[in-house]
Amino acid sequence: MRIGVLGSGEVGGGIARKLKALGHDVMVGSPHAKDKADAFAGIGLGTVDEAIAHGEWIVNALPGEASEKALKAAKIDKPILIDIANYDSAVDQPIKTPLAEVLQKQHPKARVVKTLNFVSAHLMVEPGKVKGAAVFIAGNDAAAKKQVGELLKSFGWEDVIDLGDLSNARAMEQLIPLWMSLEKVLGGPGFALGVVREK
Ligand SMILES: NC(=O)c1ccc[n+]([C@@H]2O[C@H](COP(=O)([O-])OP(=O)(O)OC[C@H]3O[C@@H](n4cnc5c(N)ncnc54)[C@H](OP(=O)(O)O)[C@@H]3O)[C@@H](O)[C@H]2O)c1
Repeated sequence: MRIGVLGSGEVGGGIARKLKALGHDVMVGSPHAKDKADAFAGIGLGTVDEAIAHGEWIVNALPGEASEKALKAAKIDKPILIDIANYDSAVDQPIKTPLAEVLQKQHPKARVVKTLNFVSAHLMVEPGKVKGAAVFIAGNDAAAKKQVGELLKSFGWEDVIDLGDLSNARAMEQLIPLWMSLEKVLGGPGFALGVVREK
């Protein structure tokens, strides 16, 4: 699969290297991606627009506010757009419209799927370190969600919970203040959320 990863930071970098290891044809796009060749062996590096053009699938791992701006003028038709991003403001301010819904509105033909935005970057691609953790997905296109669920399983996620349509991105993006509080009391990002079912 040709996948364009937007963002060459902690999240974009980890996701891109995992996708490459799984055999995908990956291009990372960000303002300074081309300066980071040492960190991305075997992975194409370009601008955000070049990574979008490369991808049959696109992964958004830019800061939320920046991604709204960076994606606005881009042409994204059919691809599955996996949105992992959060508004920086979500840390301490209410979310007016979830980022995933803003991106879906910008690109009505894209199939936006929200996931992983509440998981620490290093654990997104190594969920075996937090056995029992759950990952949520939300999106309007059932087939796209199924494919993204399969991708998450290929990362090692076992408990993939489909929350429903993209309006459920709000619940996921509103987890950020909880994540920040947990990081503070637990002394770092080495944790994830799980869902315990009644037997
Ligand atoms: N870190 C986590 O554990 C974590 C977990 C869940 C979700 N997230 C979300 O994932 C996203 C990325 O987080 P991160 O930790 O990977 O951030 P990061 O390490 O700071 O990387 C940010 C990336 O975005 C690019 N960028 C920054 N400002 C930009 C702008 N104005 N326009 C275009 N590109 C811009 C940077 O490009 P250059 O480096 O090329 O300049 C960099 O590649 C955020 O939305 C964050 O909320 C993070």
